[in-house]
Amino acid sequence: MIAGQNLERIVVTRDPADTRALAGALAAVARAGDLISLVGDLGAGKTQFAKGFGAGLGITDTIVSPSFVLMAEYRGRLPLFHVDLYRLADTAEALAGGLIDERQADGVTIVEWAERLADAMPDKRLDVLIDGAGDDPRRITIRPGHATYTRYLTAVPGTVETADAGLEAGR
Ligand SMILES: Nc1ncnc2c1ncn2[C@@H]1O[C@H](COP(=O)(O)OP(=O)(O)O)[C@@H](O)[C@H]1O
Ligand SMILES: [Mg+2]
Repeated sequence: MIAGQNLERIVVTRDPADTRALAGALAAVARAGDLISLVGDLGAGKTQFAKGFGAGLGITDTIVSPSFVLMAEYRGRLPLFHVDLYRLADTAEALAGGLIDERQADGVTIVEWAERLADAMPDKRLDVLIDGAGDDPRRITIRPGHATYTRYLTAVPGTVETADAGLEAGR
């Protein structure tokens, strides 16, 4: 969280298409070098979010969870680096520490199970927390971890951009 501020948005989605649409809307404000942490239980909808975000970046390839690699790369308006640490054992943390680095500076990096990187996950990122399971609605929290990511708050559908909240894009 940004010191002295309590900036976040919570969105409830009723189905996977809703979650993908939210992510796609957020992708509109994506910039090269962005890092997005996706945290939520198995089946929460992290991969659905990644698919929607990719679609919003204009990626036409099907985004699936990388099975044999920790990271897959897709070409869109910006490159998307999709990292999925589901199969990562704790002991592999040191190895995974090298996953997030300057090689991703020209694209957006989305990390599923980002909490498994612990301190190797930079603080300067957008946190996306997904609560809910099965066919229940999902409660999705969008939380900038740094001022540069507050532009994502204005991209949440239904957000009215007003001058008083200090949330104009780019601040
Ligand atoms: N509101 C919702 N948002 C996202 N997924 C949902 C929602 N409601 C039901 N689902 C279902 O939950 C599952 C989420 O799977 P997935 O995105 O692979 O989860 P994760 O990557 O977090 O393990 C999918 O089967 C999807 O159809
Ligand atoms: Mg997944």
